[in-house]
Amino acid sequence: MMKIATAEQELDPIQLLKWYVECGVDETISDQPVNWFAENENIHISQTVKPNNPPARNASGSAPLASNRELIETAEKLAAGCDSLSALNAAILEFDGCSLKKTASNTVFCDGNPDSDIMLIGEAPGADEDRIGKPFVGQAGQLLDRMFAAIDMKREKDFYITNVLPWRPPGNRKPTDQECDMCLPFLKRHIELFKPKLIVLIGGTSATALLNTKTGITRLRGKWHDYPLGDEKIPMMPIYHPAYLLRQPQFKKQAWHDLLAIKEKLVS
Ligand code: URA
Repeated sequence: MMKIATAEQELDPIQLLKWYVECGVDETISDQPVNWFAENENIHISQTVKPNNPPARNASGSAPLASNRELIETAEKLAAGCDSLSALNAAILEFDGCSLKKTASNTVFCDGNPDSDIMLIGEAPGADEDRIGKPFVGQAGQLLDRMFAAIDMKREKDFYITNVLPWRPPGNRKPTDQECDMCLPFLKRHIELFKPKLIVLIGGTSATALLNTKTGITRLRGKWHDYPLGDEKIPMMPIYHPAYLLRQPQFKKQAWHDLLAIKEKLVS
């Protein structure tokens, strides 16, 4: 039975925090409410971007507000200027256009072997990834590692992994189209710099973002698609997200078929 502490009882802060975590609380929010829309005033617009129209003003008519288009252009310019993965990581750290960065604890860039041929692309960091600063380190990540181990592939040696978004959406909510559009220039440059021989899209968000479609993962998974990279077409396979498989284990059979198709492509 749950014990409720009375005002007279001394509260052990560690026990209290543990109790919050057990209740599912995974974020701290400050005592004072924050107006995140007012925070937009601080969004940095690159000096190198020259919009055709004058920038919008905030309610008080003072500081300029960056439109989505301008922010995407800023991301495109920053990404285009990167000639290495480390430069890209630094450019993402410099980019203040996406408000998810304000609530995230870490910018999550990549994990795995940067010299491998396979690039896995997930959705966005969750609570564990945000805390540790690496993609797919929580429960879903552990299942992902087991899935690839079943086709003899290890993260440290055989593949590289990143996400569409480098910042955790608060409460693990689904990222908005605007957030994805804003981070897509960085992901596209990430693919150009990594030069994969095969891409695996993990879940609906990365599949719809990179295939530029509204079709759901159920219809996209298990089929090969092409990613245009210079003169080449890189084979790309969407698969179910391991977080979805944890909730809906009956789809593991289909996921296994997709993994076998990936394995077959790699040995052919
Ligand atoms: N889910 C994702 O899509 N990416 C992560 O890094 C973790 C969970």
